[in-house]
Amino acid sequence: MSKVVGALPTEVVVMNSLTTNIHLLLVSFYKPTKERYKIICEGSAFPSDQYALQSQVKFHACLPERQGYNPDDAIIELKPREGEYAIRHEDVLATIEKHKNELALVFIGNPNYYTGQVFNMKEITDMGHRCGALMGFDLAHGAGNLELKLHDWNVDFAVWCSYKYLNAGPGGVAGAFVHEKHCNNTELIRFAGWWGNDPNTRFTMPHDFVPVKSADAWQLSNAPVLPMAALRASLEVFADAGMEDLVAKRKKLNDYLRFVINEAIKKNKQGKNIFIITPEHEHERGAQVSLICKKNGKQIHQHLATKGVVADWREPEVLRMAAVPLYNSFTDVFEFGKYFDEALQLHQQ
Ligand SMILES: Cc1ncc(COP(=O)(O)O)c(C=O)c1O
Repeated sequence: MSKVVGALPTEVVVMNSLTTNIHLLLVSFYKPTKERYKIICEGSAFPSDQYALQSQVKFHACLPERQGYNPDDAIIELKPREGEYAIRHEDVLATIEKHKNELALVFIGNPNYYTGQVFNMKEITDMGHRCGALMGFDLAHGAGNLELKLHDWNVDFAVWCSYKYLNAGPGGVAGAFVHEKHCNNTELIRFAGWWGNDPNTRFTMPHDFVPVKSADAWQLSNAPVLPMAALRASLEVFADAGMEDLVAKRKKLNDYLRFVINEAIKKNKQGKNIFIITPEHEHERGAQVSLICKKNGKQIHQHLATKGVVADWREPEVLRMAAVPLYNSFTDVFEFGKYFDEALQLHQQ
């Protein structure tokens, strides 16, 4: 798993579900003070991320030692400019800079689950650190999709699930990354369980918790073996294929997917009703393509489903698709283009 996210083996742990891991790592890395308590996140973050952040803010605000810390303005949401769908990189950096004296944490989903926009993690991380914030990412849609270098980029922590690009099945075990510099800090506050204890003494049943000096220190319980086996099988395939080759194929597949979509839209003169909102710039996209469908989006989704295309409809008006290099071919994308064209002819005229 560490190879998939560009980390040292000791920086990665596989455990729990994604939202559980968001909370466990926020316990360690969201440490608001009266002066520094703000969190920057994407405005259209996945709901579970928003609820986790909101509830962490409320949790801290109710602690007596945090008197005077106002939870109502703690969360700052990054938004696209009027008439745009993606959040501009310069606006992300400027927002971090603007709040540099009050900022505790930046926590961003990469790519954004709705638009598919990929953020420049390295530059955002550097800016966050220059402004005194800790930097965390939700890589639910990034792990197994993007080329990640969590260690080199100096990200403080990251979390992801294994049931999207990592194919470990619904509810599969999630992942977490904690940078080496924090793994060695045994003083860090965390919610502890016996599986996070140093394995050399774990079974001597010590009274006091001695965290192992790795991301394993965040483990609470022993691992669920059956879901771990499914994930392991998937990771073996990733190891065989190699992230570098997968990323190279993903780029070509994604270019082709965008091409067939745009051709069908042009042919059916539907550019005003249906258009791609995932940024065009190659560094701002992964496997995902999100389309705004102003008219009959659900019917288009339904038509694709009857042809065996697994796409996704997100309220209020987005159709999400991904051509995945591990198991989708260029012929799949070609076939998809035909069905998409049919769907537009049937439902957009
Ligand atoms: C970006 C993102 N965050 C959080 C979650 C929630 O994951 P879980 O149900 O494993 O907690 C999802 C699930 O789809 C997601 O896409």
